[in-house]
Amino acid sequence: MADAIAVLSQKGGTGKTTTVRTLSDVLRRCGLRVLAVDLDPQGNLSDYFDVPPDASPTIAEVLTGGASLRDAIHDDVVPAALSLAEAELQLAGRMGRELALKRALRDVRDDYDLVLVDCPPSLGLLTVNGVVAADHALISAEAQHFALQGVVQVLDMLDVARDLHNERLNWLGVVLNVADMRTVHSRETYAALKEEYGDEVFETTIRASIAYAESAERGVSILDHRPDLGADYVALAGEVLQRLGGFDAARRRLRRLSA
Ligand SMILES: Nc1ncnc2c1ncn2[C@@H]1O[C@H](COP(=O)(O)OP(=O)(O)O)[C@@H](O)[C@H]1O
Ligand SMILES: [Mg+2]
Repeated sequence: MADAIAVLSQKGGTGKTTTVRTLSDVLRRCGLRVLAVDLDPQGNLSDYFDVPPDASPTIAEVLTGGASLRDAIHDDVVPAALSLAEAELQLAGRMGRELALKRALRDVRDDYDLVLVDCPPSLGLLTVNGVVAADHALISAEAQHFALQGVVQVLDMLDVARDLHNERLNWLGVVLNVADMRTVHSRETYAALKEEYGDEVFETTIRASIAYAESAERGVSILDHRPDLGADYVALAGEVLQRLGGFDAARRRLRRLSA
């Protein structure tokens, strides 16, 4: 049964969607069956994966009970569109609103090794659905001054989710993203995270580069567009698999990929 990982942060622009996209790419190249779920009404993940804009059904119909999750899978991506904003409002008035994604995912977990969930840039009901459905939470923190506060807010939210709905939810770790480690500022942010959270902070940091915007625009994975930068995500995938445990064959393939 697939483990689900929710990728989240308390705001936008921290590299969440790029992380889901690129980790999916790396893990698929290691032979894993990965389902990527877009939980953001902006639909960036769906765009990054080149899902046709009129693909239907989407996660919106799934969460409001109008479609099964299986029917909303398009090339191993469950897309989102602006209709998700309205679906969120509908969902908000219902019993069990926090459990909609968890219930919907049950059907397909056997078909995948991992499910990666891309959360929207807030800690509202959609993100709650993401972490309630997940076994693990991966926090993406942008390398800037308020990173630590952002992480604190997410951790508080994970505590609430554990208390109410998902006591087994594991914090997989926090990755410093969009980081320019040549600057004192980024290095200080990393050091502050390390001091506060120790081993929960991934050793790998994701370097900042304009190449990410280019690769998103062209719909090409950073692994192909700039393999030298993509190496960051290969390293992060290695740490993720190590923390998850198991996945021996995939980790062997990953070592070959990084060689
Ligand atoms: N490592 C990086 N360096 C520079 N820009 C990045 C990096 N990762 C993502 N970006 C760019 O930053 C913007 C926000 O990234 P995205 O992954 O969509 O963040 P989020 O999902 O947290 O809002 C996008 O334009 C993306 O191309
Ligand atoms: Mg995003």
